[in-house]
Amino acid sequence: MKPSRRQFLTGVASIALLSQIKQQAIANAIKDTGLKDLYGEDFLIGGMIQSDAFMRPKADYTQLISREFNAIATNNAFKWQYIHPTEEHWNWLFTDRFVGFGENQNLKLLGHLLLWHAQLPMGLFSYRPHKPVTEEKLLAKMETHIATAVDRYQGRMYSWDVVNEAIDENKGWRKTNWFKYLGEEYVGRAFNVAHEADSNAMLVYNDYNMSLPGKRNFMLDVLDDFKRKRIPIDVIGMQGHFGLDYPDLNELEKSIEAYAAKGMRIHFSELDVDVLPNIKPGTFPKYSLALDPYRNGLPKDMEEKLTQRYRDLFTLFLKHRDKIDVVAFWGVGDGNSWKNEFPLAGRKNYPLVFDRNLNKKPAYHAIAELKSHKAH
Ligand code: GLA
Repeated sequence: MKPSRRQFLTGVASIALLSQIKQQAIANAIKDTGLKDLYGEDFLIGGMIQSDAFMRPKADYTQLISREFNAIATNNAFKWQYIHPTEEHWNWLFTDRFVGFGENQNLKLLGHLLLWHAQLPMGLFSYRPHKPVTEEKLLAKMETHIATAVDRYQGRMYSWDVVNEAIDENKGWRKTNWFKYLGEEYVGRAFNVAHEADSNAMLVYNDYNMSLPGKRNFMLDVLDDFKRKRIPIDVIGMQGHFGLDYPDLNELEKSIEAYAAKGMRIHFSELDVDVLPNIKPGTFPKYSLALDPYRNGLPKDMEEKLTQRYRDLFTLFLKHRDKIDVVAFWGVGDGNSWKNEFPLAGRKNYPLVFDRNLNKKPAYHAIAELKSHKAH
């Protein structure tokens, strides 16, 4: 039977309505789809958030974090200076909030960090003013520090950066106070203590310039030594403080493969791409506009270079997705990046994939497009 004109029009209207609803649903799904979904089968997408994000959460920002990331780190809260300012005093306020925030948002927690040579409390290496600490006492302090922090969050952290930046380029172990007082054995001991306190967390050695051949070769020897000594290390964290033309991607790839061949999982931690003129490490030039050329915005050609760099990096990460568990940006939007202050304060840098208003940059779209079949 032929439908009446009225039935026909109602039918047309409901089909139109249905397709509108469907389109809206697709639009919403795309809107709610973040990098974490696009890369869901490849590796976790992490973001470093600063303490205001979890101490005074704002709905919009929280939403962005949980849309884009499935793992978070925070830059300072766990550092010894803050969490354990004197031998008897612990400050868990920030770290408890960080952990609670991550759990509420269903995010994996990247524990950054347990042992480093910087951001330590005064007096750690002396037991009375001007009296250097003894080896025995320092080792006990180190073990208590690691055991207490790991134990407090036992079973809740996805990973811990157990030791950060203990290796010097081409020179072997960095001659920190830890090394000076305890010798190289402290590194392995730190991993053992962390493992005793939480045998499930992934234990990471985290450092920068991990693609330099000298550093790589030393690291590989260390891994052989750790294997002989049965030291429980799971992951090499390759800090991604990169630039437009460093590191060389072939060297980066060699490091991924070499560490993985020693049985290590790989994290790309602390990812950001510096677009400003290079400042040689150890030199301290005065601020000048020549060193801060993009105060009024990033010119198109530079934006394209940044986008291409991110595309190349993520293409490499995807190629090695079987070895990589985490890729974590060191920040969310450009405005809060440490790269505006380091190595020279007061510059305007553009190292991340969200701009100063937290809008997606072309670099974001480029890395999303590498996986975009999933968004449609
Ligand atoms: C190093 C440390 C981080 C942080 C950055 C600067 O990479 O590992 O904790 O201090 O420097 O933001």
